[in-house]
Amino acid sequence: MARRRSTNGRGVQVEDTKVCVVMVGLPARGKSFIAQKAQRYLQWLSIDAKTFNVGNYRRTDAPHPSAEFFDTSNAEGERRRRAAAEAAIKDMLGWFRQGGVIGILDATNSTKERREWVQQVCTKEGIEVLFVESKCDNEDLIMANIRDVKTTSPDYKGQDPEKAALDFRERIRMYEKVYKSVDEDGDEGHLTYLKIMDIGSQVVINRIRDYLQSRVVYYLMNLHIRPRSIWLSRHGESEYNLDGRIGGDAGLSPRGHAYAKKLPDLVTQSVGDGRPLTVWTSTLKRTIQTARHLPSNYNQLQWKALDELDAGTCDGMTYQEIKDTFPEDFIARDEDKYNYRYRGGESYRDVVVRLEPVIMELERSEDILIVTHQAILRCIYAYFMNKDQTRSPWMNVPLHCLIKLTPRAYGTDEERYYADIPAVSTWRGKGSTAKHEDPGPDAAVI
Ligand code: F6P
Ligand code: PEP
Repeated sequence: MARRRSTNGRGVQVEDTKVCVVMVGLPARGKSFIAQKAQRYLQWLSIDAKTFNVGNYRRTDAPHPSAEFFDTSNAEGERRRRAAAEAAIKDMLGWFRQGGVIGILDATNSTKERREWVQQVCTKEGIEVLFVESKCDNEDLIMANIRDVKTTSPDYKGQDPEKAALDFRERIRMYEKVYKSVDEDGDEGHLTYLKIMDIGSQVVINRIRDYLQSRVVYYLMNLHIRPRSIWLSRHGESEYNLDGRIGGDAGLSPRGHAYAKKLPDLVTQSVGDGRPLTVWTSTLKRTIQTARHLPSNYNQLQWKALDELDAGTCDGMTYQEIKDTFPEDFIARDEDKYNYRYRGGESYRDVVVRLEPVIMELERSEDILIVTHQAILRCIYAYFMNKDQTRSPWMNVPLHCLIKLTPRAYGTDEERYYADIPAVSTWRGKGSTAKHEDPGPDAAVI
């Protein structure tokens, strides 16, 4: 059957396909971590993605089951687990029918029978199936996950953490009795799958069929969970910022230069142990000048993809000049700031598409300091902090402040370091043309 390629107004080219990503693996193997990352990445790219967690469905019926519940010789437990899986799949299929593109079925799916069943149900609906198995024998990783689960899982809410850990280990043993890794017996070679061993130390891929699948696979192959942080800073205040002009390639103002001088101290203070960072700037003068006093053992790289949102014919104007010259555009941008594309320039949506390789490289990397621009920083921040696209273009990102993001298993920690060097505000509220507006306490400050 011929497939129609379309962008579906998403800016990201996806085929007219639907994919069910079926997680596979024993408990405490990071399946939910992988599912949540994939969902966040896809949503950031405006691909409609949703996770269906079978455990959540099972909890409505069995909120705090002990390990015996998961024993396959426990007929009642088996029946209820099957019912939970059926309910999750039913909801997922309903969601696909309403236009969902990538559904993620987050469960153990640890037997061949279960996988065959999911495969058949989805195939009947014209949905492709991609099994993603997390196979992990690394004791440290498993222990870290058990620690996480016993403190965060609703299954063990209100229970003694040590007892919870013992029970959870027993639960894992129950699953181990029946668990089969995908294609372990050589009779699942017809399935499309990605097997990730020890969170990325080795991967096996089989029968990946199209663009959407390969995109998910490529992303998941690049994930790692080694501890690291990402530092984000806007450039120091620029001469254009002082004038309230957008875009351009101006140099720093005297206060901007002072921030550049102070940045190494802020970084040292926030890194803690003196390890060197890799620095990414844009190709524009103001970010390069901001990074120039950083220690010489920091590798520096310039990315064109980190250049500020291209304002096209409005480049170099103030917001008042834009309103006077293109009044309809000014209103249209305020009405839908994420999708509005400047004449001959870009929208926030366009920026996200060009930032995708940056995000991919960030996922593969360890400690990175990014010195970039207001719109770009909003987009990168929205990816890590899971912020809504309608709100992220309105976030206030102050000048002269270093943001440290530390990804954790189920979210991202944030710390801020202020340089204490005054700078103008470049934030603008809806409808306003003020050069330097005070964002006020209600602005969505990131
Ligand atoms: O004003 C600084 C600036 O980085 C401009 O170069 C850019 O056009 C603008 O911010 C982006 O912010 P907004 O999308 O809020 O106009
Ligand atoms: C669960 O009940 O927590 C669960 C993930 O279900 P299953 O192992 O049956 O997929």
